[in-house]
Amino acid sequence: MSALSLSRYMTVQWRSLLFILAAIIFSYTIFTTLIRVDYDFKGPISASAGSWRPGYGTTGLHQELVKPPGLKVIAIVFYGRRDRSQILHCFLMRNLVDHGGWLDEVHWIRNTDDQQDLDYLDQLLTYSNRYKQLFQERTKEQGYSDAWSKLQPGHIYVKIDDDVVWMADDAIPRIVTTKIQHPEYLLVSANMINSPLMGWLHYRAGAVHPYLPEMSPEDPSETTIKQNQSYEGDIQRASWKHVDHPLWQGPDGFVFAYHQKPPRDGHRWLRLPETPASTAQLRRTPVVDTTYDTWGAGLQSWAIAAQHHYSFLENLYNGDLQVYKFAAGAKPWITDWDRLSINFIAINSSEILSHLPIPAGVVDEEWLTVTLPRSIGKSVAVDTQSVAAHLSFFFQSEVSSTDLLGRYLDYAEENVCRKV
Ligand SMILES: *[C@@H]1O[C@H](CO)[C@@H](O)[C@H](O)[C@H]1NC(C)=O
Ligand SMILES: *[C@@H]1O[C@H](CO)[C@@H](O)[C@H](O)[C@H]1NC(C)=O
Repeated sequence: MSALSLSRYMTVQWRSLLFILAAIIFSYTIFTTLIRVDYDFKGPISASAGSWRPGYGTTGLHQELVKPPGLKVIAIVFYGRRDRSQILHCFLMRNLVDHGGWLDEVHWIRNTDDQQDLDYLDQLLTYSNRYKQLFQERTKEQGYSDAWSKLQPGHIYVKIDDDVVWMADDAIPRIVTTKIQHPEYLLVSANMINSPLMGWLHYRAGAVHPYLPEMSPEDPSETTIKQNQSYEGDIQRASWKHVDHPLWQGPDGFVFAYHQKPPRDGHRWLRLPETPASTAQLRRTPVVDTTYDTWGAGLQSWAIAAQHHYSFLENLYNGDLQVYKFAAGAKPWITDWDRLSINFIAINSSEILSHLPIPAGVVDEEWLTVTLPRSIGKSVAVDTQSVAAHLSFFFQSEVSSTDLLGRYLDYAEENVCRKV
């Protein structure tokens, strides 16, 4: 064998070796993909989803967010409704430490007697051994007060409502970091979409757009949308992207007030066309009556809630979430001591436990954001960098007459939680 043919022989051998290696890697990838059950979680935290800012774990953009070694972060969820929690479940799985997030455990607290909801909870608990049910019995009379005494000392807890339907990748790391770095804040809340206090701020900061409910019962464009919708459990899925829906059409003088009733079940809100006079367009919509008030229209009105959500989904699509945030390095928004809704908050369990019990007749939200911080001289902070969305308050039940839950499900299925 000449030197030349030897080297040719070697090249061929190298090629086959490389080919075999590639084949092994390829079949391994296929195999590991196939053996995954039911859900496959897009993660850890990727920048794949269109207009998202890159996640903190992958890009080095958020290097200031480093989980302190030894710190245990536990999410606590007061569970009641399976149609909403299936969306939260996607975000929680993505935020588990196994997938690049900060959550060591998720504690589900039963807050329903509906058998189908309870069956779904049992099913949820099988997804991860980091999912735990805190206790079996429903916490009846005391509302949630009882649950606070069940916290384990020495951890940071993130209390999340079961109808939190969207959260930014860095939402949990940010409120946890702010809580740890600032012992002067008793609790740190995320910057919630659909919050009575923050909603006013979002409106005044220009984050809310002119949207109105579609009034015509049926039109041709709607039939197209219907064909593209599919049922997921109880929810009719609808595209989360405003660009997949037509603009609002109707008489120029049409106005929709915050206290009006929904036109019909399953309706959607559509964008008013942008014109040089678009602040005039905004004046036709419910949000203009929101106030900086815990008990005001921002809490009472399903229509204001809806407008916040549709506007948020547009901002999300456009990669414009900075409209909700103060500049990097700015201080948080301090709410001392107006009652703040506690849909998504970080607390230090040792601190809370040392001040229990909650006085009789005081609900936990009042105690955590007004009574206790006032009596011990601490502040309550909203980290505006940490954005999340809360579907609806008790008073806003008519939000379920919109297609919003279907849109958030669509977002979660597309970007967070993928069925394989
Ligand atoms: C929680 O609070 C306790 C008591 O104030 C304190 O010693 C501890 O360092 C705090 N933990 C964290 C993670 O901030
Ligand atoms: C509906 O699906 C059709 C065909 O798949 C597609 O061309 C159309 O853009 C979709 N429409 C919407 C609103 O998603």
